[in-house]
Amino acid sequence: MSEKNDLLKELENLKHAEVPQRSQEEITEEIEKLLKKMTFDEKICQLFQVYSSLFQETDSKNERVIKPKIKYNIGSILGAALSKGVYRIQKQFLENNRLKIPLLFMLDVIHGFRTTFPIPLGLSCTWNMELIEKLARVSAKEASVAGVCVTFSPMLDLVRDPRWGRVMESPGEDPYLGVEFAKAMVRGYQGDSLHRRDTIGACAKHYCAYGAAEGGRDYNTVDMSERRLRNFYLPAFKGAVDQGVTMFMTSFNIYDGIPTTINKFLFNKVLRDEWKFQGVVISDWTALKECIDHGAVKDIREAAKRAVESTMDIEMVSSAYIKNLKDLLEKGELNLSLIDDSVRRVLSLKYKLGLFDDPYRYIDIQGEKEILLCDKHRKIAREVARESFVLLKNENILPLDKNVKNIALIGPHANNKQINGAWSIMGNASDNISLKMGITKKLGEEVNIIYESGCSFKKNSKINVEKVKDAGEKADVIILALGEPEEMSGEAKSRGFITLPSPQEELSQIVLSIGKPTVLVLFNGRPLEIKDLVDNIPAILEVWFPGTEGGNAIADVLFGDYNPSGKLTMSFPYTIGQIPVYYNYYNTGRPFNPDDKIEGNYSNYIDIPNDPLYPFGFGLSYTTFEYSEIELNRTKMHSDEELKIKITVTNTGKFEGSEVVQMYIQDLYGSAVRPIKELKGFKKIILKPGEMQEVEFLITYDKLAFWNSEMKFVAEPGAFKVYIGTNSEDVREANFELIP
Ligand code: NOJ
Repeated sequence: MSEKNDLLKELENLKHAEVPQRSQEEITEEIEKLLKKMTFDEKICQLFQVYSSLFQETDSKNERVIKPKIKYNIGSILGAALSKGVYRIQKQFLENNRLKIPLLFMLDVIHGFRTTFPIPLGLSCTWNMELIEKLARVSAKEASVAGVCVTFSPMLDLVRDPRWGRVMESPGEDPYLGVEFAKAMVRGYQGDSLHRRDTIGACAKHYCAYGAAEGGRDYNTVDMSERRLRNFYLPAFKGAVDQGVTMFMTSFNIYDGIPTTINKFLFNKVLRDEWKFQGVVISDWTALKECIDHGAVKDIREAAKRAVESTMDIEMVSSAYIKNLKDLLEKGELNLSLIDDSVRRVLSLKYKLGLFDDPYRYIDIQGEKEILLCDKHRKIAREVARESFVLLKNENILPLDKNVKNIALIGPHANNKQINGAWSIMGNASDNISLKMGITKKLGEEVNIIYESGCSFKKNSKINVEKVKDAGEKADVIILALGEPEEMSGEAKSRGFITLPSPQEELSQIVLSIGKPTVLVLFNGRPLEIKDLVDNIPAILEVWFPGTEGGNAIADVLFGDYNPSGKLTMSFPYTIGQIPVYYNYYNTGRPFNPDDKIEGNYSNYIDIPNDPLYPFGFGLSYTTFEYSEIELNRTKMHSDEELKIKITVTNTGKFEGSEVVQMYIQDLYGSAVRPIKELKGFKKIILKPGEMQEVEFLITYDKLAFWNSEMKFVAEPGAFKVYIGTNSEDVREANFELIP
């Protein structure tokens, strides 16, 4: 008890030293001095990361798992957060560490810390990069006072398969948006300098192509051409490097037959040689050990050797490095300079973060009290959440009238606070605003809210038909809150069916049979198969997992205090048989044209449409926008010229609203085939009713470049189309030419 109190007192009196900002030369000098003092073992330990629980268990139990010689020399910890714990671990560690090399604390701060924002797939649907940067900034502020120095975010895996549970962590199916998202997140976490106490290092993951797992089954085989990899899967990672990201994490999958964690092509060639990334690379959790199960190495010794040779610096939790590097060095099978380089990268990060000057730099118990979940952050969470919602359908029913007398609120999500979604490690459901809470707060006690969950998320849950009907019949309007429970998406949460979990479809039919105006609010971590619902329900609002302020944000949208503006960043399939379905596909030699009346063998299904239910970029508003024709300042451009494109957008409806104006390009032919459309620009604008705005885009050589038949990133002269519109299908078009 008294030990605890002492610790608290120390923490409260903790003073932070002024940390000088060192130049790279100074840092290099310090590191070289330190390296000379370090033993082999100490160096190797820097490359080992353990889970925080190893420091929480009693020493005797602990020593069976990890010997003090290793424990007090390791380089970094994952999973520890909040000042008390981090302070205790760092203090205990430094008291036992010979060279006083501080520990580095890393955590999965994925979509917020205590204040939880929508899941990343939802974040990307805002198409608002300033807002995304702002929430990453808030996350960094909250995480940094709680002792976290590096977050394992942003996740940048391009995704085309909604069966995969981790699509919820991704910015979606588009490489261009992926780049913008990557940059905004890195800017937000890292601010203008890692030297600041309220910034944290960002880690781009999972490098790479993890999102292309066959069949959408987590960890499954990935096999694709280098061209596809470079054109689609790599740009977001390159964007992160260009923005100065601190770290990279490997992925669990193989690429071209070789696990990414030991893949020289991905690391030595692309990341280090081509992109000049000098930061730290970390393996994913036990990924090194898993090379054995992949059948890519004989044993962990070989895995360790190949990983070091691929410049993989820190091994997360498995022990291939700690058990084998010394032996590999002693037997001359591994070059010490490679290990030294890895250690340099890790130490350099510790210097940049200021940990050598003040190992407790990121610990601030007072700051925790003041800013975790503070009103200002909750307000931002509400702003972000409502901007992430996508209005999928609205037959003149939304926004609802605030003067409504009786509302039936039905469904397992109607009063559910578990709406953070996966990877919300520090968020507490008890802090969240459920939909019922949000609506009650907005409308006040005079409105009669008849709440009935209808069923639970359990598969065999029984629907209480009578109660549901009774609730619906008493109401003027029904809000049906359905979807996946939050634990149905995330890591290792692949689904073979992506319909509403049973028995919710049945519940929706019962509700619809009541015959009252009904709005469906959908909570989910992935695009779902909902075509039957869409046919029968007049309004659908997609809210993903909206986080702490979810219920308030949904109420804002349902009752017209915020006009929805989110646009899908991942196509909703018509049915699962279409998967993968995405907008930037290749035409094939027999492209299907539904207007073509001639019978023939086309690239289509005989029983379902080719098009998704809702395409990339789709999302409605309470107002309507009209697009003018496209104007170009020239129709031919040389490679060193710019093409200016203009379009005028007018708000033709009755509400003020935001519109994401999207620009796509099609390269009509190339030495290697080109997609039918590629997003190359977007602008989010706000217009009052009747207001119009001219929106301008620039096309430059870079926007036309691709990885061609010779695997060179070039733009090839020829004919192009430019499309501008409200989603990837509903567009205006114009032609231009790139001339040599
Ligand atoms: C495994 C996940 O794949 C990765 O995204 C995460 O950062 C690590 N575990 C650490 O929690």
